[in-house]
Amino acid sequence: MVSLDQLVEDAKRDFAKAADSAALEDAKAQYLGKTGMLTERLKALGKLSPDERKSAGAEINLAKTAVEDALQERRQALAEGVLYSRLAAEAIDVSLPGRGQEVGSLHPVMRTWERVETIFHSIGFDVAQGPEIETDWFNFSALNSPENHPARSMQDTFYVDCNDAQGKPLLLRTHTSPMQVRYASEHVKKYANAAVMPPIKVIAPGRTYRVDSDATHSPMFHQVEGLWIGEQVSFADLKGVYTNFLRTFFETDALQVRFRPSYFPFTEPSAEIDMAFSSGKLAGRWLEISGAGQVHPKVLRNMGIDAERYTGFAFGSGLERLTMLRYGIDDLRLFFENDLRFLAQFSA
Ligand code: PHE
Repeated sequence: MVSLDQLVEDAKRDFAKAADSAALEDAKAQYLGKTGMLTERLKALGKLSPDERKSAGAEINLAKTAVEDALQERRQALAEGVLYSRLAAEAIDVSLPGRGQEVGSLHPVMRTWERVETIFHSIGFDVAQGPEIETDWFNFSALNSPENHPARSMQDTFYVDCNDAQGKPLLLRTHTSPMQVRYASEHVKKYANAAVMPPIKVIAPGRTYRVDSDATHSPMFHQVEGLWIGEQVSFADLKGVYTNFLRTFFETDALQVRFRPSYFPFTEPSAEIDMAFSSGKLAGRWLEISGAGQVHPKVLRNMGIDAERYTGFAFGSGLERLTMLRYGIDDLRLFFENDLRFLAQFSA
């Protein structure tokens, strides 16, 4: 029969070998179970004389306690091992970059849109929006472009397969100028009973459509209409307001503005506004930026305004063109391809 010391040593070795708690409980049964080696020795005590039993019993109990301690220690070690291996398996590398949603950004043309609104708002202009599907009246006739007049073919129009109340086909507005008439007519109605009509000062940014598509034309594009009507609002005011707008928009006084005679049915006189930067890579190159002019008396009358008393100016500028100049973009089509490599450059 092996000594008690040997038994304790064997138990410790068996416990250490047990790789998991099931194996450990099996090993335990061999020593402390119903028929375990220590249990058998305790049972055998009965065969000894009372004196022998006392000392032998004390020794066996010491050995039993040692085995129980070893068992407890191993149980704990195994439990910790399980915990640590789980922690290791489920470890999170907190130094890795996150996979969170990327922050989106405004389209560069929308940035221009908002910028133009902010600038004109700061000098007292209202901001208005109107329908993209227009009637013949607002898009053409009210703007003094009579039927069969060659001016109509200046802009190739998308027509909608649906007529308005006058029996004329609806169309996608070819410019934001119909907003001049819409806004001014409402304004006139609103102040019909007032002693004096407050001046009309409004911009109307929005989408416009023409049958046109190449590197510098898109069938859908954006314009911003400007309108200021009041007593003695002159062409000089147009020059001042527009030049100041450009200087604010481009954040530089180092630009030149020129007004070239032009023709629009709804303005008289009419002008094309060109600008040129005084420095930078586009320096000295004149670029057309807007149509403009003094609101034609016939248009004023169509708005319900006394053309003898009130005058004013209007302009219509391309938002894509302003955006291209601000960021140095040379192909209009980049705006509509939705290539993130392009769009992400405007996320700051
Ligand atoms: N509507 C004109 C165009 O689209 C621009 C314009 C607006 C010209 C207002 C004069 C006054 O070309």
